Amino acid sequence: MPVFSARLIDWQRAHGRHGLPWQGSRDPYRIWLSEIMLQQTQVAAVIPYYTRFLARFPNVAALAAAPVEEVMALWSGLGYYARARNLHRAAREVVEKHDGRFPATAAALAELPGVGRSTAAAIAAFANGERAAILDGNVKRVLCRAFGITGIPGERAVEERLWALAETLLPTRGEDIGIYIQAQMDLGATVCTRARPACGRCPLTGECVALASGRVAELPTPRPRKTPPRRAARMAVVILGQSVLLERRPPAGIWGGLLALPEILPADADAETWAMRTFGLAQIRARELPPLVHAFTHFTLEITPWRIELPVPPRIVAEPAWQWLTLGQISAAALPAPVREILEGIAKSIAAVESEPVCDFQAAKPREP
Ligand code: ADE
Repeated sequence: MPVFSARLIDWQRAHGRHGLPWQGSRDPYRIWLSEIMLQQTQVAAVIPYYTRFLARFPNVAALAAAPVEEVMALWSGLGYYARARNLHRAAREVVEKHDGRFPATAAALAELPGVGRSTAAAIAAFANGERAAILDGNVKRVLCRAFGITGIPGERAVEERLWALAETLLPTRGEDIGIYIQAQMDLGATVCTRARPACGRCPLTGECVALASGRVAELPTPRPRKTPPRRAARMAVVILGQSVLLERRPPAGIWGGLLALPEILPADADAETWAMRTFGLAQIRARELPPLVHAFTHFTLEITPWRIELPVPPRIVAEPAWQWLTLGQISAAALPAPVREILEGIAKSIAAVESEPVCDFQAAKPREP
């Protein structure tokens, strides 16, 4: 077997991560779930979500049978919500097209929604010992440094070279594959990190081209970065008694399918004007709350929440996407992280919490003129 792989496997046995909740199982459902959650998300953040998710959905049939809203609610806070929608879609596909059994090969797994080539390989390797190469961000970094590969990973030619290299490095024996894949992930996450790598603890010091040539900090070649554009949004925190007004976001776009706060658009001069027009009330006070900054992949959103307390139930029938949530329902709702943060602050500031909505827009009739 290549020296690279042998070194990694020995290192993993002694220094890799062991005892994670998804390790030690060959159940492809559990492995698939963990790999999807671990995409772009660190192990420590994933563990509580993984445990809760498995308790509620112990197998693929349970997940497929659940309404997507419930899946989104359990995912909320983990980010990159397309993963949750694809997860649910894939579960239904496994049940409907594959008789409830996960496909056995990496090639077939890669056909499932949300499962790319690298994720499919990891699942097939962990579940079935298939000799399939992975190539996620961590592995690309390790390979670029260890083999001195220049060029931007993600560009086609570099990507193809990395995949070809990853294939040649696979250990020969199927029984070594799981530990080797885990070794690559763990080395990238704990030693060969993007910033301040711990080369003193690396099993590849004797072979690493970047280390030998003093280019560890330069590799992998960084993509030239534009600073992401900044957008500002005003969000209304409309409170009626113990309830707060939320808006179900459309399925596509940011926070797709989640409950968020209604936005006060630029066309509305200020929050009070927006509230008076929206709720048909003559006098209303709005109070500006401290802003929050939330980073999305392609832009940064600066949210200014405006707290608006309604003295009486509004007489205007609301948007269909609107719904009231009691403060007690917040913890179980499918909310994006910044919205949750805002509402938890509000909940703290309101002493008693009841569990029943005080107002139902669908039931509320306009007042007689
Ligand atoms: N990142 C992606 N998959 C992982 C795994 N199985 N263990 C640790 N980190 C990971």
